[in-house]
Amino acid sequence: MSKDPLLELKHVTQHFPISRSLTIEAVKDVSFSINPGQIVGLVGESGAGKSTLARSIMGLYRLTSGEVWFQGENSSNPNTYRKNRRSIHKNMQMIFQDSAAALNPRMTVVRIIAEPMTACGLCSGKELSTRIITLLEQVGLDESFCNKRPNELSGGQRQRVAIARAISTNPQLLVADEPVASLDVSIQAQILTLFQELQREYGFAFLLIAHDLSVIRLLCNTVGVMRQGHLLEFAECEELFQDPLHPYTKSLLSAIPTADPIRERSRKVLEFDSGSIPEAGTFHEVVKGHFLYE
Ligand SMILES: Nc1ncnc2c1ncn2[C@@H]1O[C@H](COP(=O)(O)OP(=O)(O)OP(=O)(O)O)[C@@H](O)[C@H]1O
Ligand SMILES: [Mg+2]
Repeated sequence: MSKDPLLELKHVTQHFPISRSLTIEAVKDVSFSINPGQIVGLVGESGAGKSTLARSIMGLYRLTSGEVWFQGENSSNPNTYRKNRRSIHKNMQMIFQDSAAALNPRMTVVRIIAEPMTACGLCSGKELSTRIITLLEQVGLDESFCNKRPNELSGGQRQRVAIARAISTNPQLLVADEPVASLDVSIQAQILTLFQELQREYGFAFLLIAHDLSVIRLLCNTVGVMRQGHLLEFAECEELFQDPLHPYTKSLLSAIPTADPIRERSRKVLEFDSGSIPEAGTFHEVVKGHFLYE
């Protein structure tokens, strides 16, 4: 496995100008990297900037400032992006937060899954049909789904189609934005297990965005905590769970219920005082490889 990072974010900042006097600062000076095959979780409350960051990584926005490097090239540079568009599309795929909106309602499952492969010129004809059937089977569906449209599918089935589409190009990086948030709890577990199996089989690096730290702990080796556009902490999962450094991370962890009734009875949910986060600052590497926002 190559030691160079697959994805590197350097001071990524994304602002949305709303009016002359109002600018939403959705992502502020975020830096971290993901190695090939690494599974990274990104957690944070609603409005923290997680989806914006994911979309910025995918090249869906022009960055306000900072850089995104993918496979050794600055993919946030519009010229580089244009030049490498096919390779970036093939190697970086995303599963969106709202699967109902992300899948074209007019297209059949077959066309939805085929689209990235044909756009990247990967296969066609008989080979394409065989690949689609294999992909459907890999995500727990079968041939009978081929001609269905998204509105004929359940939420879980739609998410499986979105996953089949995303892995169809054998990407190096898969970004999944809250892929189970809108699903029933029982289906959530099935989809998370599916991600785990597919990641083992395909070996892609995986950026999993979730509200829920217990989901992240189940799947990820590394986790980043975001709040109000800042990346507060970025650390190995177990280290973060054992020894969270930022008060906000501590309050997030204290909110997770435990299965042990004695510990659960004495569990205290820590309040986080939002006033304690400064407006601007820099990252410092602190103890044990944690990165902490100061
Ligand atoms: N296209 C946009 N134009 C203007 N503001 C935006 C846009 N996209 C996001 N925002 C704002 O940026 C901030 C971060 O939003 P974002 O969707 O990235 O948060 P999130 O962490 O994904 O939240 P959630 O967990 O609810 O999905 C929010 O204040 C949001 O209103
Ligand atoms: Mg979001």
